[in-house]
Amino acid sequence: MTKMNELRAKFLNYYRERGHAVIPSSPLVPENDSSTLFTSSGMQPLVPYLLGEKHPAGKRLTDSQKSFRAVDIEEVGDARHTTFFEMLGNWSLGDYFKEEQLPWIFNFLVDEVGLDPAKLYVTVFAGDEKLKIPRDDAAIAIWQKLFAERGINAKIGERIFLYDQKKNWWSRSGEPAQMPAGEPGGPDSEIFYDFGTQLQCHEKSQWKNKQCHPNCDCGRFVEIANSVFMQYQKQADGSFATLQQKNVDYGGGLERLLMAVENKNDVFTTSAFAPLIEILLAETKLSYSAANPLEKKSIRIVADHIRAAVMLMSDGVLPSNKEQGYILRRLLRRAILMADKLQLGDAWLSAAADFLSQQYAEVYPQVKTQNELIKAELEKEAKKFKSTLRNGLKELNKLTEIDGQKAFFLYESCGFPFELTQEIAAQRGLKVDEQAFLQAKMQHQALSKSQSEAKFKGGLADAQAITVQFHTATHLLLAALRKFVKADAYQKGSNITAERARLDFTLDAPLTSEQKQQVEDQINAWIKADLPVKKTMHNKEEALKMVGGSVFADRYPDQVSVYTIEGASQEICVGPHVEHTGEIGPVKIAKEKSVSAGVRRLYLLKAAA
Ligand code: ALA
Repeated sequence: MTKMNELRAKFLNYYRERGHAVIPSSPLVPENDSSTLFTSSGMQPLVPYLLGEKHPAGKRLTDSQKSFRAVDIEEVGDARHTTFFEMLGNWSLGDYFKEEQLPWIFNFLVDEVGLDPAKLYVTVFAGDEKLKIPRDDAAIAIWQKLFAERGINAKIGERIFLYDQKKNWWSRSGEPAQMPAGEPGGPDSEIFYDFGTQLQCHEKSQWKNKQCHPNCDCGRFVEIANSVFMQYQKQADGSFATLQQKNVDYGGGLERLLMAVENKNDVFTTSAFAPLIEILLAETKLSYSAANPLEKKSIRIVADHIRAAVMLMSDGVLPSNKEQGYILRRLLRRAILMADKLQLGDAWLSAAADFLSQQYAEVYPQVKTQNELIKAELEKEAKKFKSTLRNGLKELNKLTEIDGQKAFFLYESCGFPFELTQEIAAQRGLKVDEQAFLQAKMQHQALSKSQSEAKFKGGLADAQAITVQFHTATHLLLAALRKFVKADAYQKGSNITAERARLDFTLDAPLTSEQKQQVEDQINAWIKADLPVKKTMHNKEEALKMVGGSVFADRYPDQVSVYTIEGASQEICVGPHVEHTGEIGPVKIAKEKSVSAGVRRLYLLKAAA
């Protein structure tokens, strides 16, 4: 067993022993949640349960959630940022609270993992008058007691550090002011591991020249654990109300924890990455430890990006120019460029995919079962990019001056990192203004940020009712397809926005126009009949029998919920759904196309009443 697998298993087992149900990781692309492109934390798939819906597995849950943070793409290259990571999690859904959570996680780190308590530092919410949320004195008292038990006098400002909402508040959308109405959040308490190399905050830190402290970002302290006391919900008037249940949302990065366990302050030297990097460098004379800083940065980028790309592909993402596919393409092209610069040769893409399929086979079997497909797609993308690369170079060679916008065009559209443009231009005696480039980039980022904020708001707040209606409509769609087109058609994926529902399902040939009409008429007849939608709980085997199997069987926990639309459909699903089909209103089939061999895609829109 690798160290990473051992650590993951240890965590899950520890919480299993404390009454938690181990639930499987959700996919990296959220199901039935159009508000965000990727699953980026463990709590994301659990939001309905934090807000009060009953979870089929109970009030105590634990898991390791595959997570991807696209916002960190630019950060990768330093010693600790990665885009893909696993988040170990445990949840209390209105059950235990900080009195149990803080001792459990602290004792896990010290007694089970073996970390030296003297190297652990903690942070606590300092309180906020405007929000009317007090300093977390309960957490402070618990920490003082826990450290005292280990012979450590935990003074505030020395061992326990207090921070405001910028650092010790957690919600999916960040600080309280950024949270949309309805969003849950709360103060948190983090544990940091001290690598002990620096006494003063570094030059670039906002705390420059001050005594070093957990959040200073110099690399001395690494956050390894975050217990969020999720007990508030943002209201429409901007205030915070207490949730009907007090929750604990715990998240800790598996790879970060491995850094502490192996006492390595560079995540790329831990056993999560070192063997992968060895494979990447196999055809070169380079070694990671002897690489110069620029080479090291490039190696980190290649290693992070190929790992993230393979994990995304194993969850069904393919390179494209849209949404998740576009992010995947950016990762791959950046990695390929860096690999070219490092002269990694031709075999590294496949070799890395093979290695990762072994590394994750036990926990995420699809990385292994999809290995051949992933390798074929990687090669296809690499080939395609070589032509974009040539075009980019052609563009670049035509230019007699390169202003910020042109450099940004090469960066964004041709996949040229600024440094590469600079390097190639320098060979032709051209100067590229970095400030102008950064300005163009910032303008673009501000634009996409405001676009994604608008999307986030649309997805969560205004559009909730309509996405729930579309969700139930996809169940009717699958049932109608089974009735008129293919009795054993399976869902391969779905994606729902406030504008439309999209369903991928197994079928070899396009629907005939007659079949399309039959399916559409049937769905509308079921909607018109105003059928009740009922949720019941079953053990997994029983549920699979009821619904006639599922391609997602290996993702389900032991207890699952089944949604039954009387006389029409029965599916394993986590909801939410309408209570009666009449709420959906008339729908129509908009378009149908092929996604891959044996998989078709159908879109449903709302029709005029
Ligand atoms: N949800 C919390 C986080 O992602 C635990 O840090």
